[in-house]
Amino acid sequence: MSNRLRVGALISGGGTNLQAVIDACESGKISAQVVFVGSDNPEAKGLERAQKHSIPWFVADYRKIIAGYRASGYSLPLPNDCGMDGLLARQSLLPKDTPAEKAKAYIASRVKAEAALLDNMSRYSFDLLILAGFMRVLTPYFLDHVNAGQNPPRVMNIHPALLPSFPGTDGYGDTFRYGCKVGGCTVHFVDYGEDTGPIIGQRAFAVEPDDTLDSIRKKGLEQEWLLYPACIQLFAEKRLRITDGEPDAKGKTRRVVKILPPKACGS
Ligand code: GRF
Repeated sequence: MSNRLRVGALISGGGTNLQAVIDACESGKISAQVVFVGSDNPEAKGLERAQKHSIPWFVADYRKIIAGYRASGYSLPLPNDCGMDGLLARQSLLPKDTPAEKAKAYIASRVKAEAALLDNMSRYSFDLLILAGFMRVLTPYFLDHVNAGQNPPRVMNIHPALLPSFPGTDGYGDTFRYGCKVGGCTVHFVDYGEDTGPIIGQRAFAVEPDDTLDSIRKKGLEQEWLLYPACIQLFAEKRLRITDGEPDAKGKTRRVVKILPPKACGS
């Protein structure tokens, strides 16, 4: 039996990162295989890539599920194990001053969709879940199901900026408009906030005077295609651990990723 890392992937769009990971698996550059591809969006072009490589895929149609939940007046039943009060307390996706009813409706509608994702994913055994251009936030309901207290956690994301700068959906656009002279991308573990989780790896590129938003995106994606497989390989080699970082001036610490040297593999 193969001992390659079993990777599940979630996408929303074109899936060029997914393709880079599939290629790295198929060429033996990384010791992994993609065992399923899921999408929130039935139109995602990346699903064709899964099909072409005979990787099973599924759709949990977020738009439909969320619209159905709204149309029911938020009255459809939620999963039994959802514990809404605890979820609301743990999540840091919404600003703290969001009115309680609004926060509840938002998180509940995502939980409905996440239950559909988890239901589809339960058909596959996997070691790591990668978000590869998956344009949906994930609540603690989903993350706790997948992570189940493991160190390192099991959900990774790739972000189109050098975090903690420019979280959100338009990292390259933000980099360009801010006038940055360096841009980049980040792979991080996903925590309860948006693009706030512990950083695993980053790659940077120079922004030249004649760069446009398009050329920045192109440079960034080229770096992403190298970075994501490299981070997955570190996970496959069991070289990633979450630890407490150094305290800042106020004595506050963040959880950070420690990369173990190759010789410490498996220890
Ligand atoms: C990438 O820029 C990624 O960083 C961001 O969404 C984009 C997805 O591109 N999260 P693709 O679908 O992998 O081509």
